[in-house]
Amino acid sequence: MSSPQSSPADTSSQRWAWWPLLPLYPYGRRPTLMRELVPNRVWCFEQLHGVWYVAVPIRMTVVKVEEGLLLYAPLPPTAELLLGLRALEAQHGPVLSIVLATSSGLEHKVPLAALARAFPAATVWVSDQQWSFPVPLPSRWLGFPAGRTKVLFRDGLPHQDQLVWIPLGPINLGLGTFHEIACVDLCTGTLLVTDALVAISATPPPIFDLDPTPLLFHGREKGSEAMIDTPEQRLKGWKRIVLFANFFRPELLSIPSFPDLVIDAMTADEANPRNHFAVFPFRWAPSWEEHADQLITHGFQVAPCRLAPVLERLVFVRAKATYLEWLRTLAKQMTIKSLVSAHYSASQLMNSVELENYADSVEATDWAPSDGSWQLLAAIDRTLLRLNIVPAQSESC
Ligand SMILES: [Fe+2]
Repeated sequence: MSSPQSSPADTSSQRWAWWPLLPLYPYGRRPTLMRELVPNRVWCFEQLHGVWYVAVPIRMTVVKVEEGLLLYAPLPPTAELLLGLRALEAQHGPVLSIVLATSSGLEHKVPLAALARAFPAATVWVSDQQWSFPVPLPSRWLGFPAGRTKVLFRDGLPHQDQLVWIPLGPINLGLGTFHEIACVDLCTGTLLVTDALVAISATPPPIFDLDPTPLLFHGREKGSEAMIDTPEQRLKGWKRIVLFANFFRPELLSIPSFPDLVIDAMTADEANPRNHFAVFPFRWAPSWEEHADQLITHGFQVAPCRLAPVLERLVFVRAKATYLEWLRTLAKQMTIKSLVSAHYSASQLMNSVELENYADSVEATDWAPSDGSWQLLAAIDRTLLRLNIVPAQSESC
């Protein structure tokens, strides 16, 4: 199992053969970091995923339940990941339940079939209204194992003596639904969320210690710059990745002209696959960092968590009331001590008062704006509306 600062010589255990189903960086080799979040109770397995080195952590959480383990938010089960899970099973009992708590998150849905095959005795739980695009496929074609797949709420809920399940949605997105089920572990006060709430740390998450290439790539000003590994470059790269991942095209980013791009690449001392042959089509205006700091939630004045702007503008844009209702239901869970979501940073200390404060701030502030860095997201939404791909009213369905 990988740990920060170590790089296994044999990377065959990191192979993920099904990567063409969702061809995201780092493609067919997925290094995994395992961490214990609550001693003997909660662990996480983390990998990276992204586009053009805009890579953020993606996480599966393991919770100790009576007589075994529950897996929340599936990850590609590489040999390396399975080695870590087998070690936990040897100590804490078998994997009893695998939970896909989102109807829309393809990055969590794609690995489910392979993960379920690795644990043939486990019950698979999925949120209702699963869908696929561009072709609507039945559940068994998505690889959900017949005979042991259950739908959360419709067919019951797993480990209710210890876990509280709180649904968000479903929200009608036109092509399908957004439906996510949060889970509170009463033993540890851990709130598990897939996509609907994240904590964005001020420093790069530890998974980047396995390979900081995405940080170093984006920490530069030009493609001709070498990728020098320093804490400052890593931090700069992380903050830019945060802006890219949340807004796609942040306000203070510009694209150089094609001749500038070519001249820059040709003057680089090094051009290789790792630095994308010195092609770097980004230029950042001087005050870009202030915009990144606004998104970073550690030390955030209201709460150390937030809804990612991309979801606010494209999923919850017309479903603020549904989102608020879910937040306030979560905030009633007084046992909550920390947030572990499937992306960005974990675990993040957070309590129900902070959740309520966040709900208040959501209620009071301008929702899903269209200016500044939100412009591209707003344009995408307008286009989807014009083409009748998304409904004009998309509160709960
Ligand atoms: Fe996700």
